[in-house]
Amino acid sequence: MLPFEEEDVGTKIPLKRHSTINPSSIQQNGHKKKKIRASFPVKNPSSTGSEMQKRKSELSKIRTGLPVYQFKRKINQSLQDNDVLLVVAETGSGKSTQIPAYLDESNLFCRNQGKFARSICVTQPRRVAAITVAKRVAEEQGCTIGSAVGYKVRFDDSTQPTTRIIYATDGMLLRESMSDPLLSRYSVVVLDESHERSLQTDILFGVVSRAMVARGYDLKGADEEDEDDGSMDALIKRRMKEKAQQYSLPRLKVVVMSATLDTETFKNFFKGAATIQIPGRVFPVQVVYTQEPQEDYIESALVTAMQIHQEADDGDVLIFLPGQEEIEDLASLLRRHLEAEKTLEEALTSRDIVQMVQGMGTNLDGKVASIVDGVMICVLYAALPPEAQMLAFQPKPAGCVRKIILATNIAETSVTLDGIRYVVDCGKHKTRDYNGKTGMESLTVKDISKAQAAQRTGRAGRLSSGVCFRLYTEDAYDALEELSVPEILRVNLAQVVLMLKGMGVHNPIKFDYLTPPSMDSLKKATQLLYALGALEKSMELTAHGKKMAKLPVDPVYAHLLLQSSKYECTAEMLTAVAMLSAENIMYRPGSNGAMEGGPDSLSTKAALAHRRFVSYEGDLPTLLNVYRAWQREAIYVPKRYSSKAQKKLQRDAQADGQQKLFHGAWCQHNFISARALIRAHDVRHQLSVICGNTVGQRGLGMNVHQSCGEKDMEQFLKCVCAGLFLQSASRISKSKEVHKGSGSLEGFQRGGRFKTKVGNAEVNIHPTSTLFNRNPAPKCVVYTELLVTKKTYIRGVTQVREEWLVDVAPQFFSKV
Ligand code: CDP
Repeated sequence: MLPFEEEDVGTKIPLKRHSTINPSSIQQNGHKKKKIRASFPVKNPSSTGSEMQKRKSELSKIRTGLPVYQFKRKINQSLQDNDVLLVVAETGSGKSTQIPAYLDESNLFCRNQGKFARSICVTQPRRVAAITVAKRVAEEQGCTIGSAVGYKVRFDDSTQPTTRIIYATDGMLLRESMSDPLLSRYSVVVLDESHERSLQTDILFGVVSRAMVARGYDLKGADEEDEDDGSMDALIKRRMKEKAQQYSLPRLKVVVMSATLDTETFKNFFKGAATIQIPGRVFPVQVVYTQEPQEDYIESALVTAMQIHQEADDGDVLIFLPGQEEIEDLASLLRRHLEAEKTLEEALTSRDIVQMVQGMGTNLDGKVASIVDGVMICVLYAALPPEAQMLAFQPKPAGCVRKIILATNIAETSVTLDGIRYVVDCGKHKTRDYNGKTGMESLTVKDISKAQAAQRTGRAGRLSSGVCFRLYTEDAYDALEELSVPEILRVNLAQVVLMLKGMGVHNPIKFDYLTPPSMDSLKKATQLLYALGALEKSMELTAHGKKMAKLPVDPVYAHLLLQSSKYECTAEMLTAVAMLSAENIMYRPGSNGAMEGGPDSLSTKAALAHRRFVSYEGDLPTLLNVYRAWQREAIYVPKRYSSKAQKKLQRDAQADGQQKLFHGAWCQHNFISARALIRAHDVRHQLSVICGNTVGQRGLGMNVHQSCGEKDMEQFLKCVCAGLFLQSASRISKSKEVHKGSGSLEGFQRGGRFKTKVGNAEVNIHPTSTLFNRNPAPKCVVYTELLVTKKTYIRGVTQVREEWLVDVAPQFFSKV
């Protein structure tokens, strides 16, 4: 069943297209004149026990009203009778928050299980979901986070040995299974958001089923015997079984949760799984198509949003766009158009928002939320820090008439946004794709599937009837694929193969995949690992590969980090890899009301502030400069320190005579994302523990203090070259450029077009790179990411000398 009534699908209402919006067309609504006051609830983090109990009883009313509540008994009973339970219910029905709590409360699964298997693990594809859902459930249970309920995400673990419900990213459970393939800590694993078919969740299906089989489950059904073909993998499975018996591990129960009805794949994988379908509370949604194809979906979304605002009844608007860039563009256009139409005598300004956001513990600005003419504009995308994402979920401040949320497909299923009555769907999303021929991964804007279009539409009918404006024609809809392609069929599998090898899977080709990836991508992944020196020809992990598997970062970054011992720059490389892991460190804000790009605009101020960090050599040395400057000039006192320790640290820091700023102020002054920098700092700490610990303590035994110093950057650059040699590109020679006749010599020297050394693809330096428009353009570079939008871009670019490539990878490059 679709989340809206069948007869409403396909109603055609022509979308008007205005070239400009006439400010006088906005009706002066009496209620818009009200005095506006910020009313964001600021939560007191140190709530007392009685406050927690009060909140618990408040929440208990909400909990019993959720659609899953009626199914509590059935869910517990079904999982008791079956090893695998498939739960299908709309987003917001209570799957993620309630079902683990029901299983825990029932006492049937995770208590009294002796030393092992006492907990329930709930996996989430997104870090922010794992943290926020865990916090919500802790609140519902009236406990502090990390006690009975906790979360475990990369580089942040709030759990204790006694934690019973653990929300973890799927990647975290995969890592855990490397040291404990039987998943012996858990009695139940709940695989949430399975419909997203994220790479890691897909792999988890195989990993979890292996643990289930070892703990007594018959994966293939009664008629098919699990063949023991005498292979290494069969031997490993037999050993796992023996170990499970030795520890008397109970059967591992699995709940697969999905928001869409496409569950055939899961049912085929887990034969005989029980299924429960929970009807959601949905209202009819009218679907509106454009009559003509839209050339520019940003402009089309702008026109539609303004029309809704001017003409439609109350209700919030959710606009789906492919990515951060498009979201920021549209947010800025919307702000400008609403500003032009301003009818309010007193309006909340971006500065008020800054204060509200700061009240929530971050130092972001009006880029994540702003209010213009009584309209609250929020943005929502995965790279945004969790606190900034939370703004989209906050109730509208008093006097605010409408909320417009601009989101990526993150808002399709994995988050609950109440109050949406209008959905605007551009029909596109950004997906990662892997080109098996060139071995290159790219982020591309592509059409969504029909299943995604239905999910987007459904967001409008949560609380009352709604309208979904599809910014494409009905014919274009008919031509869409039925379902989205699972990530495992689209991405570079090097990390998967490395992980499976690290888990003891001998032959990753024969692993139990939910949907087997193509032989080509598996081969390409093994070739990449072989090129990085991680695999022997016999497919065994080399000593280097074993070290790489221990590092929770992309194999290329793991390789890069491990090179640092040779080049005596481990301290620097730890910083660089950590800064790369925390995205968007250099904060580029949107408009603050001043003319965008003008001398007073925040973006110009940010560019000026960033100038002092910029390294001539490129992005990695620039990130290193930011971290070094922060260490020199800022005072950072981690919140986890006792208040006495905090005060002492602050006194010591101030007593050292230098003019230092506190972390938040320093970041604000330098337009650096405070959250991202702390995350990088934490990631650096965790990586240095893994690198620095002795081998016996599961570490890599590296000297993490080994530093090349600020003066000798050549060592660092050579190391970057040695780590990223497979991602190198050289400038296309002047003569070829002129010969092709595309662009002037000046244009060529400034921008510079490059050709990748592996794959021979023509690429450009991304505008966010410090090497963009460098005059003259560098001759040879290495990069961390390839991005395909209208052009093919490289990001994370660092200048290297061509001859270094021959030194660092003689097996690949030779002198010309
Ligand atoms: O998993 P599913 O989408 O079915 O629902 P859920 O995440 O368990 O959410 C159930 C209800 O809890 C929603 O209606 C949300 O309003 C609320 N919730 C919340 O307030 N804060 C969270 N972090 C998660 C859920």
